[in-house]
Amino acid sequence: MDKAIDINELLKTMTIEEKMGQLMQLIPLFYDSSKSGSITGPLSDLNMDEDMIWKSGSVIGVTNAKDMIDIQRIYLEKSNKKIPLLFMYDVIHGFRTIFPIPLGMACSWDLDSAEQLARITAIESSLSGVQVTFSPMADLVRDPRWGRVMESTGEDPYLNGLFAAAIVKGYQGNLDDPYNIIACIKHFAGYGAVEAGREYNTVDMSDHTLREYYLPSYKAALDAGCEMVMAAFNPIHGIPATGNRYLMRDILRKEWGFDGPIISDWASIEELIKHGVAANGKEAAILAIEAGVDIEMMTSNYINNLKQLIEEGIVAQVLLDEAVLRILKLKEKFGLFENPYKAADPEKADQTCVCEEFRQAAREISAKTIVLLKNDGILPFSKDKKVAIIGPHADNCGISGNWRALGRADETISLYAGICNKIGSNLVVMEKGCEIAGQNENDFVKAINVAKEADVILLALGEEQDKTGEAASRAFLTLPGVQEKLVDAILKLNKPTAVVLFNGRPLEIKSLEEKVPAILEAWFPGTEGGNAIAEILYGDVNPSARLTMSFPYTVGQIPVYYNSFNTGRPYSEGCADPVSKYLDIPNAPLYPFGYGLSYTNFEYREIEISKKTMNQEETLTASIVVKNVGAMGGIETVQLYIRDLVGSTIRPLMELKGFRQITLGIGEEQKVEFEITTQMLKFHDFKGNFKAEAGEFLVMIGCNSRQVDTVGFRLNL
Ligand code: GLC
Repeated sequence: MDKAIDINELLKTMTIEEKMGQLMQLIPLFYDSSKSGSITGPLSDLNMDEDMIWKSGSVIGVTNAKDMIDIQRIYLEKSNKKIPLLFMYDVIHGFRTIFPIPLGMACSWDLDSAEQLARITAIESSLSGVQVTFSPMADLVRDPRWGRVMESTGEDPYLNGLFAAAIVKGYQGNLDDPYNIIACIKHFAGYGAVEAGREYNTVDMSDHTLREYYLPSYKAALDAGCEMVMAAFNPIHGIPATGNRYLMRDILRKEWGFDGPIISDWASIEELIKHGVAANGKEAAILAIEAGVDIEMMTSNYINNLKQLIEEGIVAQVLLDEAVLRILKLKEKFGLFENPYKAADPEKADQTCVCEEFRQAAREISAKTIVLLKNDGILPFSKDKKVAIIGPHADNCGISGNWRALGRADETISLYAGICNKIGSNLVVMEKGCEIAGQNENDFVKAINVAKEADVILLALGEEQDKTGEAASRAFLTLPGVQEKLVDAILKLNKPTAVVLFNGRPLEIKSLEEKVPAILEAWFPGTEGGNAIAEILYGDVNPSARLTMSFPYTVGQIPVYYNSFNTGRPYSEGCADPVSKYLDIPNAPLYPFGYGLSYTNFEYREIEISKKTMNQEETLTASIVVKNVGAMGGIETVQLYIRDLVGSTIRPLMELKGFRQITLGIGEEQKVEFEITTQMLKFHDFKGNFKAEAGEFLVMIGCNSRQVDTVGFRLNL
């Protein structure tokens, strides 16, 4: 079909069944029983006529070019209107070349790297037949008990928005480019606030909190041109997002002007029944179509009910037509009518995926995400020392996280392999000592004997990758199994010992902090993980990563996040009065937002501000001098925070409003400047008005959210 198709004319020719079909998304099996594809949710009996398959609008879970081409060809042969299918898949942080999980990638604070990884992902995906990815996930997170924090970029709305926009640009570029894929921001909205960190649990928050903290990152993605939105499973203000007209029509479509397709999450329309806001599929269909959800993922309430609902005058025909038009418009914009197969090319995909160029990029990006949490001077290791790698992750290739798409263990560099590549296998011995989550200590002796052979020891610990991500909440955040006992056994050898953590969420590691001289947070670093960690371990790359989600002192402290509030009885050291504190733990997290160490040291001095007052048309400049006073060149992320001392609502103790990554050689220094604008001082007041208020402000600049220099100014309106 010609690209210059008139979709309004096409709509006029479509039967109501053909219109409803465009709202239907199915897995590959329905088109060709030999095509399994990726199934990422519960399968229910769709109870639909076979001929509806050849009217459906999109496919979820096709993961290779040949299947996509076969299915598109079968469909176009059998379909009456020949409207090409759109192929969608979860490509979250890499397709075949897997990059660090988003919570790790965010620790790079490097937006160019984020865009680059999205670009590489788009190339691999589009060659492999994927046309839409359900990414970026822009849910703000404050609770590491929730398994999906690994998909998020963390606890700050501003930084989350910057990363979401960068990833959208990397995926989509301009949609005329043959290797672009359509981005779908998710999960709209507030999924990261599930109560008690329990997956699929209730979400409840004030409209103020929703708008001030949870919505900005989705908006930033849409402002960057993101073409699709996925509705969340959870309720907002008492109504599940998938049926929530306030969220979808009032905010997303009317306030923000988004006119692209909204897709449900897997079965989230059907789940309106379980939520108890719909008595049956018919009521679920009414709620969802009136909320403006266009595509129903893997359930059939729309195709089984909309025709009758429209004939009975219960649902307006225009709602169906609008939904179909949004889908047709995206297909037309993406050039699908002109070329239903886009860039799908089996041979080229095989040649391009995981090529050396992409591996190199993955290695460089992964090295930027590894956070040095502690170093009593034993790192970097010396390359001429014999190292024993001990622990369940010692030679584990399962380090690409839970949403690893087509990432393959046999293409992944384990920690052991990475260190052998770096210093030679003759200087490396290895023993697991225990399983990740097992209770068996029988191999401790073997591990201890292997460790005795070495000069230095590297403990490879953490979570199992498939015990993170969706449907993977944990109530305890300590290392699983007997890993901590293994640590104690190894430390008795009194050798220089470092820990490398492989995990998908901030863990409770205060006991490691107390007894282990060095700790590296590697997250799930992906295909080139072992090589990237070796770069850091042996000092060929100076660690520069900074946390974007707080590490709690203990699970009982959650939620703990940096942009919290003063309260009416703020805690202060040694205060005898009843104040906001615990009797048994500190208020502060173990490691705060923005934290990370380097092999060198950066000194901050001379914070200045260009003037003490500004009005709303003006700007002012805040500056600070940063000097590398250590023995190694390195990258420093200079962080700008602002506090509004008095507002019409309570205002956070600090909010990230900017950052600058600078590279300083030994002894070098640089004056870093930030422009402060009134726009940076705006917030949603109690009524939801987004505006700045006159008053006193603090500017804080430093290396993390706990170590800052401060200067004040006044805004006059
Ligand atoms: C899952 C996830 C969502 C994903 C979708 C399709 O349940 O919630 O993030 O994109 O289903 O796999």
